[in-house]
Amino acid sequence: MLYEEKKFDLPDLEGLSKESVEAHLGLYAGYVKNFNDMTLLVGEYLKDAEKHAHAISELIRRRSFEFGGMRLHEYYFAQWEGTSTPLSVNGPLATALVEGFGSVETAVMHIKKVGMMRGPGWSILYYDPAAKPARPDGRSGGLFQIGFTGEQHQGHFVTLPIILALDVWEHAYLLDYGTTGKAKYIDACFANYNWAVMEKRFEDALH
Ligand SMILES: [Fe+2]
Repeated sequence: MLYEEKKFDLPDLEGLSKESVEAHLGLYAGYVKNFNDMTLLVGEYLKDAEKHAHAISELIRRRSFEFGGMRLHEYYFAQWEGTSTPLSVNGPLATALVEGFGSVETAVMHIKKVGMMRGPGWSILYYDPAAKPARPDGRSGGLFQIGFTGEQHQGHFVTLPIILALDVWEHAYLLDYGTTGKAKYIDACFANYNWAVMEKRFEDALH
């Protein structure tokens, strides 16, 4: 019922300071703790649900915010684990991105542009393996979706597997790049990615 904080095997990241990453990992740990605390509290309050109706209602709403913060940060940090590795040019993910967006560069540009939207949140690349887009050659395949998730929990493409999660909250770049440095931060995120992680997620999404 309760969750454990994950540990990440992170290398030195170019353009993202240790200080910033450590502070960010601390925020992640806070989401895990808050989610667990709220879960326990709801359990307590349910013993007298009528008396605590308002508190339960607010906790239930807030719990999904904390869960989103926990899970999305796990996707986020895992993308740098191991060593920085480029996307395999002829691999299944690259091939599907070219089919979906025309080129890998265009897909990355879209993710970055969505990341530049205002407000705290996440730019997320999803894949819908169940979609059956019409293709000129008659083949069917999945569809990518790129969305902006407000805070941690609003605007998700429900049930779709996440291939890449880019945190664009100010806390992610303030220390290294200041309030106007979001674009540089986003470039730094991409420069350090281990694309093997995203390729594995894509493989998993297909099965
Ligand atoms: Fe974050």
